[in-house]
Amino acid sequence: MAVEEFAPAKVNLTLHVTGRRPDGYHLLDSLVVFADAGDRVTVAPADALSLTVAGPRAAGVPAGEDNLVLRAARALAPGRGAAITLEKRLPTASGIGGGSADAAATLRGLARLWEVALPDTAALMTLGADVPVCAASRPMRMSGLGEILAPVPALPDFRLVLANPGVAVSTPAVFRALASPDNAPMPDRLPDCATAEELALWLRGRRNDLEAPAIALCPEIRATLAALSELPGCLLARMSGSGATCFGLFAGPAAARAGAQALSAAHPDWWVEAAAPYSRP
Ligand code: C5P
Repeated sequence: MAVEEFAPAKVNLTLHVTGRRPDGYHLLDSLVVFADAGDRVTVAPADALSLTVAGPRAAGVPAGEDNLVLRAARALAPGRGAAITLEKRLPTASGIGGGSADAAATLRGLARLWEVALPDTAALMTLGADVPVCAASRPMRMSGLGEILAPVPALPDFRLVLANPGVAVSTPAVFRALASPDNAPMPDRLPDCATAEELALWLRGRRNDLEAPAIALCPEIRATLAALSELPGCLLARMSGSGATCFGLFAGPAAARAGAQALSAAHPDWWVEAAAPYSRP
C-alpha cells in the first residue's frame, strides 16, 4: 500500500539572473538537469499526517510543522492523513534542491496514494521556486521566477561529480550579495550537442551568476570548484543553484567514479557523489 518516490538532486548547469522584480524576487534563465543521486520519500496510509526523517543526512533536516514536506502534504489535501518517511541523502541548503525535490516527491507520492490531482504550477510556486521543476524531474529550461518550464533538446550522455564542502548557504543572502541582477539570458535556442565535450564547450560560454556572490559569502566554494576542475577528465566545473554544491561534468562513468573517489580521499569531510543524469519516466 505504501508508495515510494525518488527525489533526485537538481543541478543548474547554467543559472543566469536576468532581472529583479520590485518584490525582490529575481528573474532566472537556467538549464536544469537531475542526477540519479537523491532522497527517497515513502508515503503510507495513516489517520494522521506524520513525518519521519531517516538516512545519512537526517540531522540537517528542519523538523516541525514548517518542514516543506508537511507543508506540501497540507497544500495538496488539508486535513488528510499519511505516514511520510523521508530518507535524506542530499545535503540540506546546498543548491541542489533537496527540500524542493522532497516536497515534489511527496506531492507525487500523495497524489497517487490519495488519488488526487497534482497542484498547478502557481500552487507549487508557493512552496518554493524550484518545486515546479522538481515536480517534473527531467531536463528543463527554467525561466521567470521558476514557473516557466520548457523541454530542452536531447542532451548527450554525461556524468557528474557532485561536491559539497559542508557549508550551508542561505539562498536569500546569496541573491542579496549579487552585484548586478541584470545579466544577459541564454540564447533563445539551446543547441543540439552530440557529445559531453560539445555540451561542456557550450556551457563554458554560459554562467551561474550566483557563483561570485556565493563565493564572497562562502570561500570554500572556490576551493571546491578548483578541486573539481583539477580532476582528470573534468570538462567543466560550476556551482549549482545558490551553492555550495558544485558539479564537475565528465564524459563517462569511469572518469566520474575515479574523480569522486580521488576527491573523497582528499577531502573526507566533503559530500561527494558520482551521478548519472536522471529523467523521470
Ligand atoms: O522560492 P524559494 O524558497 O526557493 O526561494 C528562496 C529565496 O531565494 C527567496 O526568498 C528569494 O530571496 C530568492 N529567490 C529569488 N528569485 C527567485 C527564486 C528565489 O530572489 N526566482
